Order: sequence, then C-alpha cells, then structure tokens
Amino acid sequence: MREKGLAPVNNTTTNPSRFGFASHLACRECGAISDLGATHVCAECFGPLEVGYQLPALTRAVIESGPPNIWRYASLLPVPPDVAAAPSTEPGCTRLVRADHLARQLGMGALWVKDERANPTHSFKDRVVAVALAAALEMGYKVLACPSTGNLANAVAAAAARAGIRSVVLIPADLEPQKIVATAVYGGTMVAVDGTYDDVNRLASELADEREDWAFVNVNVRPYYAEGSKTIGYEIAEQLGWRLPAQIVVPVASGAQLVKIDKAFRELISLGLVEDTKYRVFGAQASGCAPVAAAFRAGHDVVQPVRPSTVAKSLAIGNPADGPYVLDVVRRTGGAVADVSDPEVVSAMRLLAATEGIFGETAGGVTLGVLRRLLADGLLDPGAETVIINSGDGLKTLDAAAGAEAAAAPIRPTLAAFRAFEDALPVADPP
Ligand SMILES: Cc1ncc(COP(=O)(O)O)c(C=O)c1O
Ligand SMILES: [Zn+2]
Repeated sequence: MREKGLAPVNNTTTNPSRFGFASHLACRECGAISDLGATHVCAECFGPLEVGYQLPALTRAVIESGPPNIWRYASLLPVPPDVAAAPSTEPGCTRLVRADHLARQLGMGALWVKDERANPTHSFKDRVVAVALAAALEMGYKVLACPSTGNLANAVAAAAARAGIRSVVLIPADLEPQKIVATAVYGGTMVAVDGTYDDVNRLASELADEREDWAFVNVNVRPYYAEGSKTIGYEIAEQLGWRLPAQIVVPVASGAQLVKIDKAFRELISLGLVEDTKYRVFGAQASGCAPVAAAFRAGHDVVQPVRPSTVAKSLAIGNPADGPYVLDVVRRTGGAVADVSDPEVVSAMRLLAATEGIFGETAGGVTLGVLRRLLADGLLDPGAETVIINSGDGLKTLDAAAGAEAAAAPIRPTLAAFRAFEDALPVADPP
C-alpha cells in the first residue's frame, strides 16, 4: 500500500548540475544511457546502473584546499556543489597507517592499513551513506532506509538523525548486540527480521517498489550510494603523496567497495592526478560466505549464491550484487579473491591489534587473514607496496575477539598478588 499525501520523487532531474559533474546513468551490462534521477535498473535490460561524469579539470592543490572529509572530492561525486554546507556526518580523511611491525612479522616491505574506524559510526559505511543522503535529498526522497548487515544500519540511522529526517533500517535478527545498540541509539525505526541478510534485502527491494519516497540507500539509490566508496581510493592515493599502491586487499560483501576503489584509481589516472602505475586488486571473504572467491577459483564469470555462516557477519552477503564486477576487476588487474576460516579471522584481528594498535572488526580480520593466505600461496608480492583496508571497529564485534582473558579472575590489590599473577604469565614473543 502506498503512503498517501507525500510528495512524489522526481523520476528524472531537470537540473543535472545539482549532481555536480555527474552527467548520466549508464547500464553496467548493456551500456544504455539514461538521465540522472531516481532509478537504479536499466530500462532496456534490467541491469544495474552506474553514475557517469563529465569530469572537470582538477588539480591536486584544489583538492588539498578542500574540507578534511569526503567533500574535498565532491566534484568527483554525484552530489550538489554546495554539499559541504549541508548537515552531514562528515566522514572520511581516516588514517593511512604505516604498519611496519606487522610488515616485519609477515616478511613484507611497505605495508599500510587504511583504518576506517575513525568515521563517525566507526566504519566506511558513513562514506556511502553521506553520498546517498545528499543525492536522495536532491531527488525529493523523505526517508532514509536500508537493509543492512549492521554497519550500514549504524550509518543510516546516524546520518538521518543529523539531517533531521526519518530512518528505517532492516537487519537480520541475529546481528551482533553492539551493532543493534549502536543503531537504536539514534532513535530511528529499526526492524529485526527473522532471516538472512539476503532475505532482508529481498524484503527491502519489495518495500522500495511500494514506498515512493523512501530512499533505500543500497537498493533504489544504489548507483549514488556506491560512488561513496571511491573516496577510500582517492584518500589512499592522496595520503601516499599522489600515487597508487602496487597492491590493495579489500573486504568483499556485496563487492561495491572493491569495484569503486578500482574506479577511483582509474579516474585519478585519467585526470592526471596520479601516474599511470600498475596496481593489483585483491578481494577478501570469509570461508563461511565466499561465493566470489569460489567463482574466482573456478574461473567462472557468474557468482553462485550461498547461505552464509561466519563470524564475519558484516560480510555475510550470500548473493552479492557486485560479485561479477569484482571478478572483472581482480582479473583485469592481475589480483585474486581468497577466503579464510573463522579461526584465521580471529587470529588476524588479534595480530592487527597486537602489532599496530588497531582493533579492527571481523571484516578487518578477514582482510588481514586473506593477506596472509595470499602471501603463503605466493599470489601477492611481499616486496611490493601494499594497502589493506580495516573497514570497521572491533568494538562492534566484541564477542568474536573475546577470549580467556575476558574471564580472568581478578587479583587482590596487593604487590604480592600482582607478582604471583606475573609469574604465572606465559612468556610472550615480542611482536
Ligand atoms: C565492515 C565492513 N567491511 C566491508 C563491507 C563490504 O562492503 P561491500 O558490500 O561494499 O562489499 C561491509 C559491508 O557491509 C562492512 O560492513
Ligand atoms: Zn542495460
């Protein structure tokens, strides 16, 4: 049933400049071009749409003089030119951490961690939501909504609160408690659904057809939303002193982040902002939900859906929308997609924390775990400069990391008790 009395959403825009230098939508399957507007599937073939641009000449100096958040790249995004003036959560400009201790332990040369914990709701999802929100408001949507594996729910609820609009988020009922609390606190509508993420996503698609003025950021606003992940790629290049890394390892759920980081690198090359150096893109999945890694190994172009079961719930998408495009990117650049078991995920979370002081979430453990696996399999060059993404915060996936120490008995407040405790400690290797 349609909601009554609400202003209809614009189906096409009469003022494309409100989307900056974005000029059109292009079908990723058949290439058909359509106007910018509230549409996400191709009218010719039902393929997914992607934002195209007529990009301006842009200098490093202009970008560097921009705000210390993703809006410094506003002219490369489908957002209005004055976007930085509107209330938003202002994500981005997260640290690129030189990980020398970790590199030494892995026998690598230059290794960097792009640490996405510093975003307003502690994952990279604030980037995609900020772009989706800006575009959605231009198109007349009134409600910000999403199906989510957790982090997106946090980001949507926070961004809607900041913008002063309603949010509706749909999540699988078995999400980590931290992610549920960190969504509910913003006061929007949260609906726990008895099913997998893929069930939740299907329900969201049905709702998106029915509720005209609800912007499901990753469904009916997906072409705009996905562009937000390009900002991770822009930042990495800028933080490296305007050059590209030789290798990058990216976590894969829907696959959008990986595909858009590659798009960002190609745009920077075509704008002359970085040198055209060769880079390889690698995708990381958990073995309990590894449909893209399986397709890569089998040499397939299509991704066979799976039913997820993994500690890495944020990556538990069994039917990934961008799966085939991930395969295209890794094959074109000479990368790979690999997966690791849940124990390897947890061990990698601990390694990242112990070597670099970064408590990443399970998705970060997947990415570092896959880096180790790729090194062991000889698929990644230990001597070439490498970036890995830590896309979220370990404080939101506490149970995965909680070990015996969490339950250790307290000691009495005496020196003797402390010394007895110390004597009982195992001798640890320095990191
Ligand atoms: C922490 C984290 N990392 C990575 C991803 C993967 O993003 P994508 O769906 O763009 O592949 C997600 C998706 O939910 C996530 O929450
Ligand atoms: Zn098409």
